[in-house]
Amino acid sequence: MQKYLQNTFAKQLNKASFAQFGHSGHANKKPPVRVAITGAAGQIGYSLIFRIASGEMLGPNQPVILHLIDLPFAMAALNGVVMEIQDCAFPLVKGIVATDNQAVGFKNVDYALLVGAKPRGPGMERGDLLKDNGKIFTETGKHINEHASRDIKVVVVGNPCNTNCLILANQIKDIPKENFTAMTRLDHNRAQHQLADKLGVHTTDIRKIAIFGNHSPTMVPYIDQMTAKNHKATVDQQWVSQTFIPTVQQRGAEIIKARKLSSAASAGNAAMNHITTWVNGTSESDFTSMAIPSDGSYGVPKGLIFSFPVSVKNGKYSIVQGLPISPFYQGLLDKTIKELVDERNAVDHLLK
Ligand SMILES: NC(=O)c1ccc[n+]([C@@H]2O[C@H](COP(=O)([O-])OP(=O)(O)OC[C@H]3O[C@@H](n4cnc5c(N)ncnc54)[C@H](O)[C@@H]3O)[C@@H](O)[C@H]2O)c1
Repeated sequence: MQKYLQNTFAKQLNKASFAQFGHSGHANKKPPVRVAITGAAGQIGYSLIFRIASGEMLGPNQPVILHLIDLPFAMAALNGVVMEIQDCAFPLVKGIVATDNQAVGFKNVDYALLVGAKPRGPGMERGDLLKDNGKIFTETGKHINEHASRDIKVVVVGNPCNTNCLILANQIKDIPKENFTAMTRLDHNRAQHQLADKLGVHTTDIRKIAIFGNHSPTMVPYIDQMTAKNHKATVDQQWVSQTFIPTVQQRGAEIIKARKLSSAASAGNAAMNHITTWVNGTSESDFTSMAIPSDGSYGVPKGLIFSFPVSVKNGKYSIVQGLPISPFYQGLLDKTIKELVDERNAVDHLLK
């Protein structure tokens, strides 16, 4: 199946690009970059791939070669996704590799959005979830280390994403550890919406907020430095502790209740935002949230994949230092740190 898919794509894309650009080939002057998406046949994959293909993530002048990776049983569905990409005749898509073979899937890849993961089944313990996903991310780490670009930027979306990223990064010997991150941008975006709604402003007016910690119900939405329309903004503490924080922490569960499926479009959107910000940077008057290897800032044990407020410049992020942490926030931080330390202990055997 894999060979069939790759051969088919190569042929049809050549035809398509000739038909669209003739000999002049406008705009797409940059060499293409390779973007890998695991879990490409899943629901987040479906909401993500077409937007990346249209240039929303890396810009309208950046051609892409899509590397779509899923498990063997999902290859038929993935073939359907590929046919749909072809039928969009995207000007920026210069190739598609669709495969269940990670050595092929990660070959020379510049960006990886790791969405594929084993979901938590009914009655499954969190420890088992960690172990099952640990195997997946150990394997993926080995392939990325061996085959991907040395400058690859990785965001782990598949849950439990912080600890999956920790396991993955542990396999990496030849690429900087800073290139391995996990996604809390969805939680950040959710917080931004709740605050904009409360203050009666647009989401883009809300700045200098952040998510600390784990992508789980212990996450800490931090708003003590919030600005709205570039002015310091405050909301009452009771609303923060009793409404705002629980709403952001439980938003994923609320969406499952309503949709009978987990959030997909908003998760895909956030994964793209994560990479776009990593590439293009944050503005001087703002920061964002990324789960990254802790350097010990804010008392977080070194090496944990922990969400921090970060500012980004020239493709490099740095933790925003010196934010005041009230006793209220310190209590919440301690809980999310403990949860991530417990998760790390549960997969200790995979980190040797
Ligand atoms: N970090 C976040 O904010 C966030 C938000 C929403 C969802 N998620 C997580 O994203 C993941 C995917 O969600 P979804 O709704 O797309 O699920 P889905 O079940 O629709 O799709 C998952 C896909 O991953 C594939 N897959 C599983 N293991 C794989 C592997 N080893 N290699 C390649 N592909 C593999 C499956 O075959 C499937 O096609 C879940 O773990 C979910 O919990 C994270």
